[in-house]
Amino acid sequence: MQIIAFISGKGGVGKTTLAANMAVALVQRKKKVLLIDLDPQNAQKHHLSMDPDEIAGLVREGIAPTSIFESPFEVSFIPFGRVTDAELQAFETHLRQDTDWVAASIHSLDAFVFDYVLLDTPPGPSVYLHQALTAATHAIVVLLADAASFATIGHISSLVHQCTHDRPNFSGMHMLINQMPLHSKLGHQVQSALYSHYPGQMIPASVHRDPRVSQALAFERPVLQYEPGCKASLDIQYVADWLVNGLEP
Ligand SMILES: Nc1ncnc2c1ncn2[C@@H]1O[C@H](COP(=O)(O)OP(=O)(O)OP(=O)(O)O)[C@@H](O)[C@H]1O
Ligand SMILES: [Mg+2]
Repeated sequence: MQIIAFISGKGGVGKTTLAANMAVALVQRKKKVLLIDLDPQNAQKHHLSMDPDEIAGLVREGIAPTSIFESPFEVSFIPFGRVTDAELQAFETHLRQDTDWVAASIHSLDAFVFDYVLLDTPPGPSVYLHQALTAATHAIVVLLADAASFATIGHISSLVHQCTHDRPNFSGMHMLINQMPLHSKLGHQVQSALYSHYPGQMIPASVHRDPRVSQALAFERPVLQYEPGCKASLDIQYVADWLVNGLEP
């Protein structure tokens, strides 16, 4: 089982979008996939056509068979859930104390034999990032091709290192550029700088900025299902192949 954390130093880069679409791409490759929304924004459900009131989520029910929802796209899904401020505070206190709660809970789902568990996280350092990295066998840092994303790499890399350096089952961290503009000199310069600074850590493809991605979200669907032939969908399929070929023995 591969546990992949989607993380970023900066917000709004596309973690939630890419985690949902990667889950769908892996299902299309006949993988059994569990997607867990580890972000209090509770936004992952919008990508999967899910009724927010239908489901309790991980805060109230934990990562357990009863909290797994079968989404219309054959992705098994645990939403964060809609919670009160008091519930959120209590949950975060619990996560601070029980630092490998997510890891242990995922492993207790053994009977489900998931091939992939994908974890969506909030941006920057948080108790959720810490839990996700403690559970992960791999991390994907989502970046924009801009100076602000570039500037966050050192910090996010050291957080990854802190949480994973003593675990032999952690296979490494890769970086993925999302929302890559087709015609931007600066964007291409940043992309080149990333490839030359971090040659072994860049996923060898970027996901392009594509209006179909936001349109798909407006219809509460993954772009892979909304417009399978668009540029962003083809990019995501490429990354899914890269992931499967690179991570599976
Ligand atoms: N490749 C893309 N092309 C165009 N728009 C995109 C692309 N990827 C993401 N977006 C849009 O960017 C916005 C932010 O995406 P998303 O919510 O996935 O980011 P995030 O990293 O999860 O944000 P947060 O840090 O708040 O959790 C959304 O409106 C989404 O539709
Ligand atoms: Mg998000």
